[in-house]
Amino acid sequence: MKKILHVLGTRPNFVKMAPVISALAEAMPDTGQVIVHTGQHYDRMMSEIFFEELGVPRPDHSLEVGSGSHAIQTARVMERLEPVLEEERPDLVMVPGDVNSTLAAALTSVKLGVDVAHVEAGLRSWDRTMPEEVNRILTDAISTTLFTHSPEALDNLVREGIDPTRIEFVGNTMIDTLVALEGRFKGLDAANRMGLDRKGYLLVTLHRPALVDGPLLPQTIEALVEVSKQIPVLFPVHPRTRANMEKAASKLSGEGGDLRLVDPVGYLDFLSLENDAAAVLTDSGGIQEETTYLGTPCFTLRDNTERPVTVEVGTNTLLGLDPARIAEIPQLIEAGPDHRPGIPPLWDGNASRRIAELLASR
Ligand code: UD1
Ligand code: UDP
Repeated sequence: MKKILHVLGTRPNFVKMAPVISALAEAMPDTGQVIVHTGQHYDRMMSEIFFEELGVPRPDHSLEVGSGSHAIQTARVMERLEPVLEEERPDLVMVPGDVNSTLAAALTSVKLGVDVAHVEAGLRSWDRTMPEEVNRILTDAISTTLFTHSPEALDNLVREGIDPTRIEFVGNTMIDTLVALEGRFKGLDAANRMGLDRKGYLLVTLHRPALVDGPLLPQTIEALVEVSKQIPVLFPVHPRTRANMEKAASKLSGEGGDLRLVDPVGYLDFLSLENDAAAVLTDSGGIQEETTYLGTPCFTLRDNTERPVTVEVGTNTLLGLDPARIAEIPQLIEAGPDHRPGIPPLWDGNASRRIAELLASR
């Protein structure tokens, strides 16, 4: 293989692909790697900071697609990626996760006859109202190689008619990044810097459209204000959520308590905060996984998860898409887990090395 091209666009993409890019550089030193940043995320704290902290090489191509409707964002990536693929002529395109940039890149590549490898294939929430579910199903259907990170992914893919010889169970590359940075984030004590006690606060992130694009957002903020009277709440606010809070400003109510709304924080600080929190409340995919590895109790404000292994094996509890349940969190923390949490198989820091070895052996 002479050249591999990676398409990245959003905060979790950078975390998932940083270790893959460095493992490939080691295992396949004669293979060129080209990095394309679609620009789906563009704020410094949603993009640039990850390149700095994770040592991802500078993008060779920036498509600068920015925000837009699903159709606009997906179409812009396709339109701007096609000439890059024609110029670079890679042997393989690698795409992570389930965002619009992922599907757009996979579709553009296969139409030009370029093989696609999907990292984090086979996750299913069984909820097609989630834009990510559609992106996952379609990307998996057209990828040549499907790298999976949890055992149920194989069944999910085979049920959809995917040839099992194309599926490789390699483990979780997002956890590779966490493991590689353990020495750096564990001493940071970001909580202390923010005036919080270790194990004495609830860390919150929420950004799914089903929760933050409609009437559930003001109810959620109200519930967070209430719970913050019992335990301080630190909420680094995703830009989608921030924009919706500004629109709903007149409906936001609640007084007293200790709810701190801050901008998104860098990755090292965020891992330090996750590690030291009494618990995390989230609707993020990646954060369900990171808390599982760290052993931090995680409460997921969704009706479903495409990552059931984090509930079965790990620290994750599905609360449902129901802001009223936030009030239960202090008692749930007090009661402790209902099973002894563990770490899923192959979430061991070596997934990227396995990917690189598999590709090198072809
Ligand atoms: C996207 C992914 C979602 C993923 C999330 C990770 C899709 C369909 N969704 O959701 O799966 O979990 O990224 O964070 O691909 N914005 C900014 N600055 C930025 C980026 C976004 O202000 O740097 C604001 C804009 O108002 C934009 C909104 O956030 O309209 C949503 O951004 P977008 O990339 O469309 O979707 P996310 O909600 O970030
Ligand atoms: N993250 C971060 N700073 C923050 C919030 C999240 O660095 O303020 C990291 C987090 O550790 C994880 C990733 O961003 O690695 C998750 O991204 P997000 O929740 O936006 O996307 P999802 O995983 O839901 O697709």
